[in-house]
Amino acid sequence: MSKIPVWFDADTGVDDATALLLANKLDEKLQIVGISCVAGNVPVEQVTENTLRICDLMKKQYPVFKGAGKPWFKEYHDACYFHGNNGIGDAVLPKESYEAGKEKAWDALHEAALRYEGQLEVIAVGPLTNIATAIVKYPDLNKLIKRVLIMGGAASGGNVTPAAEFNIYEDPHAAQTLFMSGIPVVMCGLEVTMQAYLTSEEIDEIHGHHSSVTDFYYACTRISHRASQRLGLPGLCVHDACPVLFAAYPELFKGEEAGVYVETQSELTLGKTVTDLYSDFQFPEKNTFIVTDIDREKFAKVMIETLTSYRD
Ligand code: RIB
Ligand code: CA
Repeated sequence: MSKIPVWFDADTGVDDATALLLANKLDEKLQIVGISCVAGNVPVEQVTENTLRICDLMKKQYPVFKGAGKPWFKEYHDACYFHGNNGIGDAVLPKESYEAGKEKAWDALHEAALRYEGQLEVIAVGPLTNIATAIVKYPDLNKLIKRVLIMGGAASGGNVTPAAEFNIYEDPHAAQTLFMSGIPVVMCGLEVTMQAYLTSEEIDEIHGHHSSVTDFYYACTRISHRASQRLGLPGLCVHDACPVLFAAYPELFKGEEAGVYVETQSELTLGKTVTDLYSDFQFPEKNTFIVTDIDREKFAKVMIETLTSYRD
């Protein structure tokens, strides 16, 4: 079975970093062809530095490209309160050994999409500014990308507001552009990502392997793990690992087709992913597969096996 060519777009924060460590090891299924960076958890310069340094940590110099420094129309807000000032829990990694490519993220994504002739799958785990910019700049892109798997949104509720999840809220206009583009979307929203957590015991089990990767993982998750405990959560959610794992092993998940569109006008519900999943009224088009459930025990097993499989 040939590998799935994957473009990874992230706002490399703690769970983005974990998702990248996971994607890199799922190489029996996924082939990372490029990584783009977007402002989100931390400014895009910091995202790019984090991403390059994590590639060095994995000993894989994937092509990395810097993208948008702010949302299309909204003010940029970071999430340092949860991800630490440097976005990776204030863990320290050695200075990156290589530089990001000169092309802008959206140009590099289009070039990759042309190269893979309609087979490229995009995994986007930050605000969707880069993806939507590529869609608007390149009208052929919606025929060249097989599907976009996102961590974002929620069929109900939110985290950054009562109505919206951070990635969608940060750039609702970009998100709406993706959902309206005609490109098939797989949405891993809070319904499933809040189930995808690791307990303190599981985090300690990972740390017990004492490789440079597991030591980094332990160091980079301390701030967000403590914040999760203060919120009374059962563990540390690895939101961004969900679309990665779905791309490789969809059988671990449940979900259903639905229509999804993004609120871009209202102040109260800005960034809400409005879906007909639970509604008598049905949108005319099912443009999204909404992932709703995951087998958490199997999720934790894959995460532990993957993160502890790295060797120095
Ligand atoms: O709401 C969680 C999402 O926002 C995750 O992708 C996290 O990394 C932040 O980007
Ligand atoms: Ca993210």
